[in-house]
Amino acid sequence: MREIKRLREMYLYSLKAKSHGKKVGFVPTMGALHEGHLSLVEEAKRRCDIVVVSIFVNPLQFAPSEDFARYPRNLRRDRQLLKNFGVDVLFLPDAGQLYPPGFKTFVEVESLPKKMCGRTRPTHFRGVTTVVAKLFSLVNPDLAFFGEKDFQQQRIIRQMAADLNLPVEVVALPTVREFDGLAMSSRNAYLNPRERKAAPVLYRALSLAQREVQGGERDVNKILFRLRSLIGSEPLVRLDYLLAVDPETLQEVKQFKGKVLFALAAYIGKTRLIDNVVVG
Ligand code: PAF
Repeated sequence: MREIKRLREMYLYSLKAKSHGKKVGFVPTMGALHEGHLSLVEEAKRRCDIVVVSIFVNPLQFAPSEDFARYPRNLRRDRQLLKNFGVDVLFLPDAGQLYPPGFKTFVEVESLPKKMCGRTRPTHFRGVTTVVAKLFSLVNPDLAFFGEKDFQQQRIIRQMAADLNLPVEVVALPTVREFDGLAMSSRNAYLNPRERKAAPVLYRALSLAQREVQGGERDVNKILFRLRSLIGSEPLVRLDYLLAVDPETLQEVKQFKGKVLFALAAYIGKTRLIDNVVVG
């Protein structure tokens, strides 16, 4: 596995691979890899000739009060995992090169980032789209892989790629879960044993939404009420939001029709977790 730190080297590597007719797959990450990331790598391996994985904890997507400094970092373990999975390039861009002094340009999608997580993290998605646009221009991938756990993120990135005519196919893959349903996330590492035991209530609630709809319930507010009561029965969990939205527009829906995204964010202790299911 080749390790690339310099931006120009990454750009030239990809250019050369593509000039030889290779299809480049890209998995952008912030490291602390888990099976969710590795499922993206596996799919990239299946569909592409060359797989590039980036690890970069992007300061731009964290507000000053958030967990940038303590975000889990374990490069030695991540490197070994990626090597074992047959990744071709580990791209470790240098923060100083990516955001040099005088950096002034941001990429911002309108409206979608204001909803859901954007209510409590108003600058988050601007940081995500800016770094992903920069990474796309350096790696120049044919396909880029994202997890559906960050449903809003992949929706916004898809919008950005379409609006900017970026020549990349954005692929979203299903959330990978722990044995008890908890969505895999690098932030699960923050949970203490009591919090970890409480956390699966989030997926239990989302599964209840699925069952309610299968059972014929069409009133979304009634479904949300039952989900809130279930989550409320777990004292360690504090909801940030629980919403039923259209998966395309992310607008809230009242009646069940077509597909509905049930999405939530919740604090368990100090840890903020997100999860969702698409029903219908
Ligand atoms: O999902 C993540 O890990 C990050 O938001 C991403 C897409 C790598 C951008 O920093």
